Formats: sequence, C-alpha cells, structure tokens
Amino acid sequence: MTTKFFVMFLLFIWLCSTMNVAVADIGTAATYQPPYAPTKCGGNRRDQFPPGNMFIAVGEGLWDNGAACGRKYRLKCLSGSNKPCKGGTIDVKVIDFCPKCSSTIVMSNDAFSSVSNASDRIIVEYIQL
Ligand SMILES: *[C@@H]1O[C@H](CO)[C@@H](O)[C@H](O)[C@H]1NC(C)=O
Repeated sequence: MTTKFFVMFLLFIWLCSTMNVAVADIGTAATYQPPYAPTKCGGNRRDQFPPGNMFIAVGEGLWDNGAACGRKYRLKCLSGSNKPCKGGTIDVKVIDFCPKCSSTIVMSNDAFSSVSNASDRIIVEYIQL
C-alpha cells in the first residue's frame, strides 16, 4: 500500500519534471527601428528575413555566443502600460544581437505591432520552438 503510493508519487514527480522542459520564460520586449541589415547573423542577406518580418534581435541573455542565430521562439504579449496586448502568439526568428538592449529582446516593427499597440516596453512570455 505505502509502496504503491510511493511509486505513484515518484511517477508524479517525474512527470512534472519532464513537463517543466516546456515551460515558458518571461522577459521584456521593445521594438527597434530599421535599417535591420546588416545583422550579426546574416549580414546583408535578404533571405534571412522571415515572411512577414517576424524577427527579433536578442540581448546578451539569449544570444548564446551567436548560437541563437536562426532560433525560433513562440511569444505572447503578457502585459504593459495601457493594456497593450492584442492576444495570440507569434513565431519569430532570431536574426541579430542587441548588445546594449535593456530588454530581453527587441522585435521588428511588424512583429511588435502584431502583438501589442505599446510604444514602450512590454512583458512577454516566450518559448523556444
Ligand atoms: C491600445 O491602446 C489603447 C490606449 O492607447 C487602449 O485603450 C487599448 O486597450 C489598447 N489595446 C489594444 C489591444 O488595442
């Protein structure tokens, strides 16, 4: 009886830790202005820009010494001043490094305006795809 319970408990813990891998992170996002090229990932290549200009540049925290190039994130606006979030998620691609960013990421004008109507920083939830 107690052994059964213990095994169930272990299974529960294991399930929780497996699912934790998919838990999203929370950070801040702002938008940045064109020109967007050259970038640290693709220089002046035109094909680095994903359809709809759904791209971002990341700060030191996510840059991963350049390994971040091409990574895709699904992100969602959580909050900001004046209820800026439009709801829904977008998928964005990392194309650049933003060494002096005070936010976790900066988004293209198109990406930023598709999730919020803010003119300043927003809080976002993101998960790597
Ligand atoms: C957009 O901005 C206005 C205020 O400037 C706000 O009232 C509105 O709720 C905002 N949010 C959305 C999703 O449009």
